Amino acid sequence: MQLLEIDVNMFRNHINTKFKPHSLLNIITGKNAQGKTNLIEAIFFNLTGYSYRANSDKEVINWNSDYAKVTTVISKNNIDYKQSIVINKDGKKSIFVNNVKKKIRDVRSCVVLFTPNDLELIKGSSTARRNFLDKEAGFFFDKYQDCVCQYNRVLYHRNHLLKNTYDKKSHLELDAWTNQLVSLGTDVLLQRFEILKAIIPIAIKWHSIMTKDSEKLEIHYLSSVEIEGALNEFELKSKFLNALKHVREKEIKKGYTVIGPHRDDLIFLVNGKDVKIFGSQGQQRTVVLSLKLALISLYKNNYGLSPILLLDDVFFELDEDRQEMLLCQIEKGMQTFITTNNFKASSILKDCSEYIVENGRLSLIS
Ligand SMILES: Nc1ncnc2c1ncn2[C@@H]1O[C@H](COP(=O)(O)OP(=O)(O)O)[C@@H](O)[C@H]1O
Ligand SMILES: [Mg+2]
Repeated sequence: MQLLEIDVNMFRNHINTKFKPHSLLNIITGKNAQGKTNLIEAIFFNLTGYSYRANSDKEVINWNSDYAKVTTVISKNNIDYKQSIVINKDGKKSIFVNNVKKKIRDVRSCVVLFTPNDLELIKGSSTARRNFLDKEAGFFFDKYQDCVCQYNRVLYHRNHLLKNTYDKKSHLELDAWTNQLVSLGTDVLLQRFEILKAIIPIAIKWHSIMTKDSEKLEIHYLSSVEIEGALNEFELKSKFLNALKHVREKEIKKGYTVIGPHRDDLIFLVNGKDVKIFGSQGQQRTVVLSLKLALISLYKNNYGLSPILLLDDVFFELDEDRQEMLLCQIEKGMQTFITTNNFKASSILKDCSEYIVENGRLSLIS
C-alpha cells in the first residue's frame, strides 16, 4: 500500500500542506513544535478515521477554522483512489472515497505507528496494554471490535446499576446484566486469545533476531478471572460466572465491576524477568519494537499488503543495528514516514525524500 499524495487542510497548525511523498522513505525534519507530529497524526487520521493523540477528535481542527480535512491518494493492489476525511466543530466526521460517502470502518487502512509514548505499553498502566490489544492488534478483526464495543456498553450499564440505583429489589436486574457481561466477556477473551496466538510467536521471533538470541521474550495474558484449566467457551463462561458470584458483595459495596476483560493485562518477561520492573530502557524499547514489527508481519500475512509505517521521533533513538533492521524491512517496499529534529538525518539514509517543517509549512529539501 502506498500514499501517492497527501493534502492536509486546517489540521492543527497545518493550514495547507500538500505533497507527493517518496514511495519508500520520507524524512520530516524540523525544530520542536513546528508541526512534525501533527503531520504524522494527519496521515494516521486519514487512514484510520481517528486521532491517536487527541482526547476528542475535534482537537485536531485548526484554532482559526471550523473544520479540518485530510485527503490522500492511495494506491492499493495497483488501484488508485482518493480518500478524504473531514471533521467539523460539532465533532461530526465524514469520510469519502472517490467522493462517495463511506462508513469509517469500511475504509480503514493498515498503518503501524511507533511513537515515544509507546514505551507506556511496557511502563504504563494495564490500559495501555489493553489498548494495544483492542486498538492496534485487534484493529482489523471487525467482529472483535464489535464485541469489545458491546461488552463495554453492558459494562457501563452494569456499573451504573451498581453505583447509582442498586437496592435489594435489583438483584434480578443485576443477574440479567451479569449474564450478558459473561457472554460477551467470554467472546472478548476467546478472540483476544486468537489475536495473541497470531502475534506472540512473531514478536518472539523478532525479539530473538534483535537480541541475537541472547534474550528470550515471553508474553502472557493475565486474566482478572481465574481461568486456569478452562478449555472451551462453556468452561470459560462458567468460571467467569462463578467468579462474579464470589465478588458480588464486594461489587455492590464498591459500586463497579471488579473483574472481567476490562481489568485484564499482559505481562512481558525477558529471560524470565518482568521487563516492566527489571528491564532497562533499551530492553523495554526492544520489546515494543518486536510488537510493532509483529504487527507489520501480521498485516502482511493477513492482507498481503505492507502497512504504512509512521515513526515519530523514534528512529534515530534506536541503535545502529536496529535502524539497519528497520531499513531492511522498509526497503522491502514499506512506505515510511520518519520525523526527527536531527538535521543530518538523510546523510545516513540513501534513497529518500527529506522535508523540513517550519511553523506548519512543509518544504522539500532533497
Ligand atoms: N488545533 C490546533 N490548531 C493550531 N495549532 C495547533 C493545534 N494543536 C496544536 N497546535 C500547535 O502545533 C504545535 C505542535 O506541533 P507538533 O507537530 O506536536 O510539533 P513537533 O514538530 O515538535 O512534532 C504547537 O505549537 C501547537 O501550538
Ligand atoms: Mg513531535
